[in-house]
Amino acid sequence: LARGVTAPDLAGRHVVISAGGTREPLDPVRYLGNRSSGKQGYALARTAVARGARVTLIEANTQLPDPAGVDVIHVDTAVRLREAVLKAAAEADAVVMAAAVADFRPAEYASGKIKKKDGQEPAPLALVRNPDILAELSADRPRAGQVIVGFAAETDDVLANGRRKLRHKGCDLLVVNEVGEDKTFGSEENEAVVLAADGEETPVPYGPKEALADTVWSLVLPRLL
Ligand code: CTP
Ligand code: CA
Repeated sequence: LARGVTAPDLAGRHVVISAGGTREPLDPVRYLGNRSSGKQGYALARTAVARGARVTLIEANTQLPDPAGVDVIHVDTAVRLREAVLKAAAEADAVVMAAAVADFRPAEYASGKIKKKDGQEPAPLALVRNPDILAELSADRPRAGQVIVGFAAETDDVLANGRRKLRHKGCDLLVVNEVGEDKTFGSEENEAVVLAADGEETPVPYGPKEALADTVWSLVLPRLL
């Protein structure tokens, strides 16, 4: 399970990875977003290619260059991400949801820029829930026997929240990392625990996102049909 695995052990496999963070527009110039850089998802894509997989990367707002040898699909919102992931997942052996999907989106989109009004406080922002792509994929697998992997960013009670989330989502593996002001987001390195639905728990020491990515693939591999 070490970094730098280069055996083509994913040859003949098709993997789908989502990366980045969705943006939910309020009006033509503003959105609700998050701090996901997309680097972990891109590391997953590069390592999967190195291990021989066919890779579809569904990217939301990362600003990162397309990795070589990867089919990249660019999306913006959670709704678009869902469409692209479900479509690609129909013929995938594994799906890894590394993207930070906005839980909520503005209830209404203003087609013109929202303007201030003199002497008036702003109206409260009404939000609605976005679809939970990981839960949906896990519940009705687009392809029988495929392996579904989620990521969870937690600030408190990391392991307890991670175990609960794994059960709740119904995925096979959940990569849990602790996030904070300067942890994980945008950085080149990551530290995590990978929780499996069968109870296996794999701690991954602080290190390059590639090393975590290789560990994820090494845990996906024995679970593939
Ligand atoms: N996810 C998803 N669709 C959503 C929200 C999250 O597919 N609408 C996926 C993410 O891509 C990630 C996993 O679910 O792989 C966990 O995301 P996280 O935000 O940690 O979980 P939530 O269920 O949204 O819980 P929380 O209330 O802690 O944000
Ligand atoms: Ca969330």
